[in-house]
Amino acid sequence: MKFFIDTANLNDIREAQDLGVLDGVTTNPSLMAKEGISGKDNVLRHYKAICDIVDGDVSAEVIATDFEGMVREGEELADLDDKIVVKIPMIKEGIKALKYFSERGIKTNCTLVFSAGQALLAAKAGATYVSPFVGRLDDISFDGIELIEQIRLIYDNYDFDTQILAASVRHSMHIIKCAEAGSDVMTGPLSAILALLKHPLTDSGLATFLADHAKSANK
Ligand code: E4P
Repeated sequence: MKFFIDTANLNDIREAQDLGVLDGVTTNPSLMAKEGISGKDNVLRHYKAICDIVDGDVSAEVIATDFEGMVREGEELADLDDKIVVKIPMIKEGIKALKYFSERGIKTNCTLVFSAGQALLAAKAGATYVSPFVGRLDDISFDGIELIEQIRLIYDNYDFDTQILAASVRHSMHIIKCAEAGSDVMTGPLSAILALLKHPLTDSGLATFLADHAKSANK
């Protein structure tokens, strides 16, 4: 399973990249706003800065909700760098835009997906990635992981090339469950990735090894 980091924070992206396990980045307008990035030129510059750090795909979301606007913004984003994946919302005009970009070999990520039917449409339109929002479904008492399993079954039934990008991943257990469900990619915060490291027996075991080594070295 590929690991993407879901942030526009350059320090977090650098830290994940330095760890050596990062396969890409996803952003959204809320994450850009959180970093205080606004204005077209600053936004484009920031996406370029992200591309310069990471070895892998970088999802950059369009703001327009009409077909022509999405195409215009998406082409501008795609021109920035080969790593850019144009992120398009799951709406009717978005389906047309997914089709447009897929026919031109431009990578896409269909975002705000909450049902198997939406995922099926995104795959039919040729999306490179589909982003079911696991955490936001859990927030409203729907099972986000169950949706990943459902999409996996449908995509495997018909050999769709679209990759399942489990989004809105909030914690390490989500990552494990996405891997069990056969998600191709997961995107989450740095904290969720780093939490995979943690086990109390690792910490106590290492402390004992180091203490025993120190004792024998002092003899
Ligand atoms: C997906 O690409 C979104 O950027 C993101 O995963 C949403 O996560 P959230 O529900 O934690 O805001």
